[in-house]
Amino acid sequence: MKPSTKPEPFLLASMLLCTLLGLGYPLSCEMCIRNGAICIGEMKDCALDEDTCVVIMTETNNKGSVDVTSYKGCSKSSKCDPAFLSITVAPENYMGSDTRCCQSNGCNKDPLPAFRRNLTKNGVQCPSCSTFLKETCTPTDETLCFGEETRCVTVTGLMHPGVRFAFQGCATENACHIKPGTLVPSGSHLLTIKKISCLPSPQASGKAE
Ligand SMILES: *[C@@H]1O[C@H](CO)[C@@H](O)[C@H](O)[C@H]1NC(C)=O
Repeated sequence: MKPSTKPEPFLLASMLLCTLLGLGYPLSCEMCIRNGAICIGEMKDCALDEDTCVVIMTETNNKGSVDVTSYKGCSKSSKCDPAFLSITVAPENYMGSDTRCCQSNGCNKDPLPAFRRNLTKNGVQCPSCSTFLKETCTPTDETLCFGEETRCVTVTGLMHPGVRFAFQGCATENACHIKPGTLVPSGSHLLTIKKISCLPSPQASGKAE
């Protein structure tokens, strides 16, 4: 809901620098963040070290309040994981995120197809906890895993500069290979994942109803 206003002088200076150094113009991407499956924003130039445009759509459930958030912006290919990611801490505390990365001007214009959370319990169960302001949490509970979530994970990250979060729960296999710095828009926040560690694959405990 808050369009970020980038200081224009920086843009001008960087374009001038490009011209002087003969580096060519920066990549330009559509930029927006909005509740809902579609966001439309202005085209803006990326910073010189950003070589990638991204579109990210997430569905988060925080204590029963479900948000779908769309984000478009600039990124670095080293921080872009084009994949569907699903993490569950509890039945009413989960996030699913779909990301696409591309490398040409305005290539992030098209919205991602809507996704639906897979509500089938898969028999895997993981220790779970979540906390803000700290870098670790101690599991107090176990959660059932859904759909393709076959791994138990520990996640740490930043909600805003300086505001940490940590949680443990179930995740899709690709979460184990996520790059540090991966963005996850959630409601009005832009979460940055710092680290995900996967526990050894749990045995499906099988008795989930
Ligand atoms: C949902 O997850 C279950 C269990 O992993 C799987 O068998 C099923 O194919 C998934 N459904 C879809 C639509 O992906």
